Amino acid sequence: MNHLSFRAVTTSFRAVTERGFPLLKVCSLREYLYEVFNNSQDIPSVTDNWVARDAEVVWHGFTQMATYASNSPIIVERAEGRELIDVDGRRYLDAISSLWVTTLGHRVPELDAALRAQIDLVAHSTLLGNGNRTTIEFAEALAKVVPVKQPHFLFASDGAAAVEQALKIAFQFWTNQGITSRQSYLAFGGAYHGDTLGSLSVGAGGFGTEIFDPLRFGVLRAPGFEDPNCIPVACALIAEHANELAAVIIEPLVQGAAGMQMRPAAEFAALGQACAEHDVLLICDEVATGFGRTGTMFASEQCGLHPDLMALGKGITGGYLPLAATVANQRVYQAFLGEDLGERTFYHGHSYSGNPLAAAVALAHLELFTSLDVLTNVNERAAQLEQLLDQHIAGLPVVRSIRQQGLMVGVELAPPEGTVRWGRKITAESVSRGVLIRPLGDVMVLMPILTSTAEEITRIVLTLAESIAAVAQTEQQHLESSRVESSQVESSQDQPADE
Ligand SMILES: Cc1ncc(COP(=O)(O)O)c(C=O)c1O
Repeated sequence: MNHLSFRAVTTSFRAVTERGFPLLKVCSLREYLYEVFNNSQDIPSVTDNWVARDAEVVWHGFTQMATYASNSPIIVERAEGRELIDVDGRRYLDAISSLWVTTLGHRVPELDAALRAQIDLVAHSTLLGNGNRTTIEFAEALAKVVPVKQPHFLFASDGAAAVEQALKIAFQFWTNQGITSRQSYLAFGGAYHGDTLGSLSVGAGGFGTEIFDPLRFGVLRAPGFEDPNCIPVACALIAEHANELAAVIIEPLVQGAAGMQMRPAAEFAALGQACAEHDVLLICDEVATGFGRTGTMFASEQCGLHPDLMALGKGITGGYLPLAATVANQRVYQAFLGEDLGERTFYHGHSYSGNPLAAAVALAHLELFTSLDVLTNVNERAAQLEQLLDQHIAGLPVVRSIRQQGLMVGVELAPPEGTVRWGRKITAESVSRGVLIRPLGDVMVLMPILTSTAEEITRIVLTLAESIAAVAQTEQQHLESSRVESSQVESSQDQPADE
């Protein structure tokens, strides 16, 4: 079929769809045409049009919009299993779990069904002063698995909001007891806790957020996880500043956004002990590490930590809906009990707190997590991933180091001098090969969906290896040609003027 006949088909098809056929039919046609052509060059891209429409009205987070359209974004239309499908029908294996949120896959029948069933009950009712049956059922189920003693859950919609709530609860915990000196926090270098002002303050900065420094409140800062002494230093700071500290906040086991910086699990117990000894609250931010990502349901379990407060988000609904939670232990919760409308009340709450649609999916997700024995798959795939990374990636000359915990991986590059933006370039190569990744600077992040198969893990690693090799080759050619050019310029400058 040539372009003309292709156009004829799509034009008449469009005419049909404009008369009311569902959009799904259009996608099916495109996919069919892909099969027929077996050559994407022959098919006019509809992505370009969507990218232009997108840039016209949508402002993308952490994205320079002036260059957004020229960075070849993919425009997702739907998904199947662990693949995203774009408006042109191209498929991408989701190797970043849609920014670390997707646990079981996309369009999981049981999660879809839970969402549909809840719609027939109620989409939303407020938790401010009232309750919702589904949210209660979810909280009861979550209470059985979190490593927090006699937990209560304050729901929010994003990880940053869960952290923000934890910081405010820790602050008020002390003032509710008449202690006004404990108004500060200890946080770690490299930490990332979200983008609201409180979470940004306990975060270490970076990612271009320095512009907000004047708005950030000061905190006591221990070194980042790349420093082997970070935990002992944090413990010493806790001992020294206990009377000023409301809480310590940490990402247990893995600092994700820092480029997957990790500390061995055994080191963290000392931090828990220091907090207990000096009566400083411990906040574990498990927004990224929670829900199986590191090989246990929560990273705190491996670290032997029982935090006073915990922030959960991302995987809590399996990646379906925006839901987050601040978990408080019994001691913290009880410090807020008092007279009706009294000042011990926590005057904080969000419109969509505990949204029942999200809660229904989150409840079904917890049930499936156990029945599918997801953790076994995580640990098997993690072992396979480690072996493959060792075999295909570790020895590449541009790879500095590989850090892995469960299905959280950072491949740190060591780009040769004179070359830039390797993370971006390798990502583009990988996406063009149908594997969706997103780097953190020059750290290639792999966050496969927790139900990934052995074949998918192999594909991710081999695609990364190919993509690194492709960029290495192109960059090498650029370096050589610029060397030749500059030596030609030099030798022409060396020529006597009269020659
Ligand atoms: C450890 C940690 N905390 C908090 C957040 C913020 O979560 P959200 O993007 O849902 O606000 C993130 C996001 O990556 C995170 O990794």
